Amino acid sequence: MGVDRRQWMLGSLTKKLFIKTYGCQMNVYDSARMADVLTPLGFCQVDSPDDADIVIFNTCHIREKATEKVYSELGRLRDIRDKRIAAGAGMIIAVAGCVAQAEGEEMLHRAPHVDIVLGPQTYHRLPEMVARAARAPDLEGGGTGAGVLDTKFPAEPKFDSLPKVSSQGVSAFLSIQEGCDKFCTFCVVPYTRGSEYSRPIRDVMDEAKALVAGGAREITLLGQNVNAYHGMSAGGNEWRLGDLIRSLAEIEGLARLRYTTSHPCDIDDSLLSAHGEVRSLMPFLHLPVQSGSDRILTAMNRRYTADDYRRTTHRLREVRPDMALASDFIVGFPGESRADFKATLRLVRHIDFAQAYSFKFSARPGTPAAMLADQVDNATAEERLKELQMLLDDQQQAFNSRFLGLALPVLLDRPGRKSGQLAGRSPYMQAVHVTAKDAFLGEIASVRIDHTGVNSLGGRLSGNDDHVWGEGLQQRVCA
Ligand code: SAH
Ligand code: SF4
Ligand code: F3S
Repeated sequence: MGVDRRQWMLGSLTKKLFIKTYGCQMNVYDSARMADVLTPLGFCQVDSPDDADIVIFNTCHIREKATEKVYSELGRLRDIRDKRIAAGAGMIIAVAGCVAQAEGEEMLHRAPHVDIVLGPQTYHRLPEMVARAARAPDLEGGGTGAGVLDTKFPAEPKFDSLPKVSSQGVSAFLSIQEGCDKFCTFCVVPYTRGSEYSRPIRDVMDEAKALVAGGAREITLLGQNVNAYHGMSAGGNEWRLGDLIRSLAEIEGLARLRYTTSHPCDIDDSLLSAHGEVRSLMPFLHLPVQSGSDRILTAMNRRYTADDYRRTTHRLREVRPDMALASDFIVGFPGESRADFKATLRLVRHIDFAQAYSFKFSARPGTPAAMLADQVDNATAEERLKELQMLLDDQQQAFNSRFLGLALPVLLDRPGRKSGQLAGRSPYMQAVHVTAKDAFLGEIASVRIDHTGVNSLGGRLSGNDDHVWGEGLQQRVCA
């Protein structure tokens, strides 16, 4: 016996929504916005797919592993859906994000129990898609999805049709730029997210104010290439990211600003000087370099040399001496020799990173690098990855240990690992755990660091006046 979709959809006033997010912060933002779109229709969010009426997987296509994970989790979800149908309930399964965009119709064949496949640019149309899915034939279990597909790149930007943003809590994300025109040869993003688009300044300002009114003390501006941001000011001037940051910094109550992810080519003078002038702009920058070999950087189409990257980081540290840098690396890019890899290790030693992500090259269908001869064998890539990660871990540990005994301003934004603890971030993005009452949630508290690990710091609340944040701290951090 199947379940009549329409009867089931009309069956109760509130429907339960479960969203699982994979991939980057842009997907985290998009998931929050999908919830904003569905909340007015009576959906409320739950923590498990088991009792959800609608499940959305917001997916990531960046590496093969990320994509395969989605399919295996969809298999598990089919069993949950079958159980619900046997019990007379229903479940609508939607796959959103970059895998959905890349696979499109193919996904409906590979996972026929999926009801809706939608791309990152069409989620403002979710209510219509859910309504279409609800009108599809009865739910029978197994592979009987509704087959709704919407992976177009619509002419109208989705931001114009989205409802007002809801509160995201103390630390909020705000997408200001989307898509990418850089076409690095290894990367799927230009194909899954489309071409570069910057949101109008006014929209960004309004959304930032709404987030602050909803309790945000920190906003992280997001974009695949966030520093390619450009907009037209009310006075008719072209604004870049540095100008936008200066304007956002004036919002009362907004204590911290960050932005991610930036491309080394788009760090212009106005952004550089903003790092020196805007106190709420945090001294931490994620600036992916990928490789330290010019030959490989050219093959990747990154448009800079290792020396260009060194120069940019020096300039950043000139204007902000305690600037902590993070990065991304790919090892085993086609044609990468031992000498190329050593150039990467040299660059890492030169820059001294506070944090980094490193990946084995993953050949992605449709990208130019996947077609290159001279692919590096897995064992070699694995070895290089380990070697690089060891060096990066040592740097991260050394960076963290410089804070021992110092008091840091920590924005406490979530419960800690143990009861009675809260956790938050230092200006340098380190996770900090501290014993503190819930009343401190949302506060920037002074925490004296008494132990440090690779991934986090721990400490005690100290008097609010004894921050060494400032000149003294800069000397230690840059030691
Ligand atoms: N826009 C950002 C990166 C976005 S993707 C930039 O230009 O730096 C996030 C990271 O995933 C990249 O920095 C890269 O290190 C990694 N990545 C992207 N494609 C990859 C691939 N095909 N194989 C392995 N890692 C990849
Ligand atoms: Fe991908 Fe390169 Fe664009 Fe970053 S800049 S999103 S790595 S194509
Ligand atoms: Fe992944 Fe798409 Fe982000 S491919 S990294 S979710 S832009």
